[in-house]
Amino acid sequence: MTSLGFWRRALAPIAILSWASFVTAYPLVSEQVLKRAEIKIEDVRDNYDYVIVGGGQAGIVLASRLSEDPDVTVLVVEYGYFNNAPSVLQPSSATSYQRNVQFNITSVPQTELDGYKQSVFAACCVGGGSTINGMLLNRGSAADYDAWESLGNPGWGWEGLYPYFVKSQTLDEPNPATAEEFDMTWGPESYSDGPIHVSFSSFQWPGVKIQRQALIEAGAEAPVDGSGGDAYGVIWYPTALNNATATRSYAVNGYWDPAKDRPGLDLLAGWRVDEVTFNDDKHATGIIMRERGVEDAERITIKSNREVVITAGALHSPQVLQRSGIGPKWLLDEAGIDVRVDLPGVGSNLQDHAVAGVSYRFNSNLELNPQDSMANSTFAQWAARELSENHAGPLRVATGNIGGLIPFPVIDPEGYEAVIDEYLNLELAPHLPASYVDENVAGYAAQRAVMADLMARSDNAFLELPLQAAPGYSAVLIKVLSRGTVHLDPTDIYAEPIVDYFTYGIPTDKRMMRSIVRWIRKVHETEAMSELGPEPVNPPEDVVTDEEIDAWLTKGTTCSTAHNSCSNPMMPQEQGGVVGADLLVHGVTGLSVADSSIMPIIPAADIIKERHAGKTEEPAEEPVEEAPEEEEPVEEEPVEEEPVEEDP
Ligand SMILES: Cc1cc2nc3c(=O)[nH]c(=O)nc-3n(C[C@H](O)[C@H](O)[C@H](O)COP(=O)(O)OP(=O)(O)OC[C@H]3O[C@@H](n4cnc5c(N)ncnc54)[C@H](O)[C@@H]3O)c2cc1C
Ligand SMILES: *[C@@H]1O[C@H](CO)[C@@H](O)[C@H](O)[C@H]1NC(C)=O
Ligand SMILES: *[C@@H]1O[C@H](CO)[C@@H](O)[C@H](O)[C@H]1NC(C)=O
Ligand SMILES: *[C@@H]1O[C@H](CO)[C@@H](O)[C@H](O)[C@H]1NC(C)=O
Repeated sequence: MTSLGFWRRALAPIAILSWASFVTAYPLVSEQVLKRAEIKIEDVRDNYDYVIVGGGQAGIVLASRLSEDPDVTVLVVEYGYFNNAPSVLQPSSATSYQRNVQFNITSVPQTELDGYKQSVFAACCVGGGSTINGMLLNRGSAADYDAWESLGNPGWGWEGLYPYFVKSQTLDEPNPATAEEFDMTWGPESYSDGPIHVSFSSFQWPGVKIQRQALIEAGAEAPVDGSGGDAYGVIWYPTALNNATATRSYAVNGYWDPAKDRPGLDLLAGWRVDEVTFNDDKHATGIIMRERGVEDAERITIKSNREVVITAGALHSPQVLQRSGIGPKWLLDEAGIDVRVDLPGVGSNLQDHAVAGVSYRFNSNLELNPQDSMANSTFAQWAARELSENHAGPLRVATGNIGGLIPFPVIDPEGYEAVIDEYLNLELAPHLPASYVDENVAGYAAQRAVMADLMARSDNAFLELPLQAAPGYSAVLIKVLSRGTVHLDPTDIYAEPIVDYFTYGIPTDKRMMRSIVRWIRKVHETEAMSELGPEPVNPPEDVVTDEEIDAWLTKGTTCSTAHNSCSNPMMPQEQGGVVGADLLVHGVTGLSVADSSIMPIIPAADIIKERHAGKTEEPAEEPVEEAPEEEEPVEEEPVEEEPVEEDP
């Protein structure tokens, strides 16, 4: 069996994060060219060493790494098509979140949000989220990854992952004058000459200087290298744009294009994997797939000689496992699927970043600001020319390069200890999804111990507040304590899965958001901010008491910033885990999961990518595990050995 060390060496994680809720003034470009099938079905072999389910962000990286070995054969099956629209490369695509290359899923009504139904973000195209996301790319703090490792996942801590973050990315530096004027800092040693280019825009709106200073006056630190393990305070973070061309750097041009001519690598687009096949020893032997959009399409079987790796994303990886008889027994029974492994963790532990929209009016705004300036046609024309001629200027800012990543003790210095106490004493079962069985609750209890520790730390963030020189903010809860579920629809197992974020299910989340709302007010009462003349719009000034803020949050919170993750957690089986630190699915062999679903706890950003696997420097003799990909930054995880107990 290949050692875990081998896989980790082969990994090269990339962290990307993104925000779904930015205000944007950029034009949407609507041309789309969706092309089917890199190879045709007639050219697909009947067996491959590795079969990868889902050619999204993780799947493409993994395919590229695995196929570095010329003796290995790899097939990627992707439900979406290639998205060759030129607009996909433009900085403006970071905020357009094109719907035609996403799944169409709406969450179940959210009890704690007055019945709100979240329109779910999930990519459906080659390259997955990396092809359409907000390009906001940053890494978690060291404590985030160390928490994962402490949950029983050796090798997944900061020290183990950092070399792969470095390896996967090239940082294109901004021009020195901008860097100096804006006090932009980064650690060059945290990057290499990796395939993903990240950069800071050389044009920055001057208002971010004021916002940055206000965060510092309100208690935030300002670390030098937010990518070097110190992602807390107010940091500069890059976007996944190649600086020279101002175009998106993503899985397709970073990993697929250089690999696509390898004779052992095939990608079939526009086909859906229905399920994984097994022999009598519960060893995965391949997949069954069928063509998208063809009525009564023939089901075709492809064999895997070494391993099947599922990278269908945080919503569909659980669904593929469940359809294959691996999941909660009650669900499989209800759907009439034979139970291969009763694994209640599959589709549990779903996390995303809940977000509240907080806004102000700036009564004495700077003359140069995104709203007014872009509304001035002379300025807007100059901006368009700057982008097309110099690959620079305001239209290249995309989702921005600066934000606060604020630890809870900074947000609520007086109250945080009591909040943690309350959290640790909460009776869990009533605040977790009703479908949770004992293993799920035990796993959450283990996570709770880790989360409580993170909540008390000053080197780890709970709020992310991107700064865009605008008076509207996304206040993002980047470590949600609540847990949701994603289950196949028992009445139609091929329909879209049923998504329940269970936002604010754990009341401590809302309690933290209340502190966040108050801290943002404090930021706007700083001396630095007074230059802009801020006046509250939302929540309005008369929303003051705990009850009033909570009522406002019930209306003002949404469940997602497009960061679905954690639904097949890397944890021990008895704690509701789905994969081990080697990425192999518990209870079977020859099958692994390697995408955003395996993070036990959502990181401060989201991340993703990377993967790898490659070569055979250490020959795998056995079934191997596979490859992982990794994602990154996550935060936390559950601890394994001391399961904390939960209900007192
Ligand atoms: C609109 C949007 C904006 C975002 N912004 C940011 C950002 O700015 N920064 C950031 O870090 N993160 C951002 N994210 C999140 C980030 O892009 C994702 O976390 C990441 O891409 C997930 O990678 P993945 O490989 O796990 O899944 P994906 O990239 O989603 O890949 C899964 C793939 O599997 C395919 N698939 C599903 N089911 C099947 C099946 N049965 N058979 C075959 N194929 C299947 C899907 O079509 C998809 O292509 C954003 C996401 C979205 C959707
Ligand atoms: C989602 O709906 C859009 C139309 O609004 C469509 O173009 C797209 O193909 C749908 N996605 C999927 C995965 O079917
Ligand atoms: C990045 O682009 C800006 C604007 O075009 C330019 O000033 C800067 O020198 C570029 N950086 C590098 C490393 O080329
Ligand atoms: C519009 O922008 C141009 C160029 O930046 C500037 O000279 C002009 O004064 C602006 N017009 C208004 C009405 O602000």
